[in-house]
Amino acid sequence: MAFTWTKDLETGYPLIDSEHKQLIKAADELVEACAQGKGRQEIGNAVEFLSNYTKTHFAHEEDLQVKNKYPDYAAHKNWHQAYVREIENVATKLKAEGATIALVAEVNAKVSQLIGHIKTADLKLAQFVKNASK
Ligand SMILES: [Fe+2]
Ligand SMILES: [Fe+2]
Repeated sequence: MAFTWTKDLETGYPLIDSEHKQLIKAADELVEACAQGKGRQEIGNAVEFLSNYTKTHFAHEEDLQVKNKYPDYAAHKNWHQAYVREIENVATKLKAEGATIALVAEVNAKVSQLIGHIKTADLKLAQFVKNASK
C-alpha cells in the first residue's frame, strides 16, 4: 500500500502541513523499502527516520498548543506519547526481524492511524490556532 499526501490532509497551518507531507513521504519510503525486500540496514534506517521525524513533529505541535493555550493539549499530547511508544516498538521489531508480513501490516496500520489523527485531531488544532490568531 502506497501512501501519498492528498489535499484532504491539509490543515491550513503551513508548518504542520509541510511536516505532515514529510511524514507521509517517510512512511511511504519505509513501506516501499519493505515491499522491495530491502535489507535490514536500509529498512532500519527508514524506520528510524520515520520514528525520529514523528517525535520532532509532535514536539512542534505540542509547543504550538502550549503557546496558544490549547484546551485539548493533554489529550492530544497523550495520544502523541502513546503513538511514539508504539512506533518505537514497531521500529525495534523491524530492526530485529526484518520486514515480516506481520510487521509490514503493523507499519501500514500505524501509518493509517497517523493519517486518521491528522484528519481529526491535527485539523482541530490548526483550526483553533487560526481562530486564536485572528
Ligand atoms: Fe501532526
Ligand atoms: Fe498531532
